[in-house]
Amino acid sequence: MVDMEEMISSAVDRNLYRFLEELCDFLRIPSVSARSEHREDMVRASSWLRDQLGRLNIETQIYTDYGHPLVYGSYCPYADKPTILIYGHYDVQPEDPVELWETPPFDPSIRDGSIYARGATDDKGQLFTWIKALEVLRATSGRIPVNVKILIEGEEEIGSPNLHRFLVDYKKRVSANVIVISDGSKYSRDTPAITYGLRGLSYLEIEVIGPQRDLHSGVYGGIVKNPLNALVEILAKLTDEKGQITIPGFYEDVVPLEPWEREEMEKLALKEDEVRDQLGVDSLFGEEGFSALERKTARPTLDINGIWGGYQGEGAKTVIPSKAGAKLSMRLVPNQSHQKIDRLASDFIKSLTPPGVKVYVKQLHGTDPVIVPRNLKEMEIAIKAIKKGFGKEPVFIREGGSIPVVVSFSRLLNIQPILLLGWGNPDDGPHGPNEHFSIENFKGGIKTAAFLLEELGKS
Ligand code: BES
Ligand code: MN
Ligand code: MN
Repeated sequence: MVDMEEMISSAVDRNLYRFLEELCDFLRIPSVSARSEHREDMVRASSWLRDQLGRLNIETQIYTDYGHPLVYGSYCPYADKPTILIYGHYDVQPEDPVELWETPPFDPSIRDGSIYARGATDDKGQLFTWIKALEVLRATSGRIPVNVKILIEGEEEIGSPNLHRFLVDYKKRVSANVIVISDGSKYSRDTPAITYGLRGLSYLEIEVIGPQRDLHSGVYGGIVKNPLNALVEILAKLTDEKGQITIPGFYEDVVPLEPWEREEMEKLALKEDEVRDQLGVDSLFGEEGFSALERKTARPTLDINGIWGGYQGEGAKTVIPSKAGAKLSMRLVPNQSHQKIDRLASDFIKSLTPPGVKVYVKQLHGTDPVIVPRNLKEMEIAIKAIKKGFGKEPVFIREGGSIPVVVSFSRLLNIQPILLLGWGNPDDGPHGPNEHFSIENFKGGIKTAAFLLEELGKS
């Protein structure tokens, strides 16, 4: 009998070009979840996925009562084999600023060994590796070797506001032994990784209201509180020069990093000079007393994401704006709770309100941080699969980003083996212009996914 691994590997190589063409079709659908004008595109992307899964004999339904269409497929013929739940998202972030793209965001183009398009790495390309792995397994051995469930949502990029409710309603249907997610990245270009931690997120919008209309800053300057001045005064009080967040109680629940974990992160040794140069800054910045790797994955942060008010056009306009606003995000780490942080932050912001303006704080989305156990047999299996698929042993990392559903998988479904296996490169540029996904990683991802499913079928 021909070696199964060899068969999988050569089937991926042989079909790679077609797989890439299919991925391009997927990437051409501008499934931007945040924009209502793309509602029809969400429907198109979900039916495109249903067709893909249908061809693999996976019974697939689309749920329309949970926000953007939710794709759920299941192929569970075995009584004596584990059930693997694959999760991914077909929605993408808005493409702007579109003028910074070298080729159009929804017209995929292949150059320098990568495929360029919005969603190439986050998450269409990575999700697609699992679908193609299933196809390759069917084609080589005539069957998918495990029970498979696949859940693909269209709302991840807007904070998965409806997915938890779906999981509550269909808890039994989606139950599984192992969850696999490819929606992140390797540690570096040449070092694959298994992610065991994700940060949480608390996202707020602040509005400051002053005089009932815009005023001449000469005629009224000196007698009213300018809401934009008030806003920046408030914002400036949320962090200090040492990179600490000054919201009272903010760090209360932060679990300190264990010595073993700090050692591990030190060994990984993020090349801080390289990162600095890549980003085009004079120096990196962050909380004192922590390495850059610790700060970007295992420490909480506060960032202003946007700010507005007053005159933004060409030239000068002497005006006191009537209103000002800002968007603020805080990345959270175990055991911070986004609800508590939302409350502490809003209370503190409101307490900083100067006389003469009103301050409103609104919660936009929130998700808790999560750590998944590493010492499970499924992790060992994943390590082996990655070694074969990428030719190198993975390292364990925590990621700074968030995937809201992971908390529900862990707490509500109580599934322990959650394999977060990112195939991207750290500089693929998700959410930014010229997002791309390397073809080598696409190929390595499909192979690894197939090896992993094959091996899980034996366990
Ligand atoms: N795939 C990312 C999360 C991610 C990024 C994980 C990098 C690991 C490494 C996901 O699509 C994402 O962008 N999440 C948002 C969450 C938010 C919209 C609720 C994030 O982290 O900003
Ligand atoms: Mn993603
Ligand atoms: Mn994303």
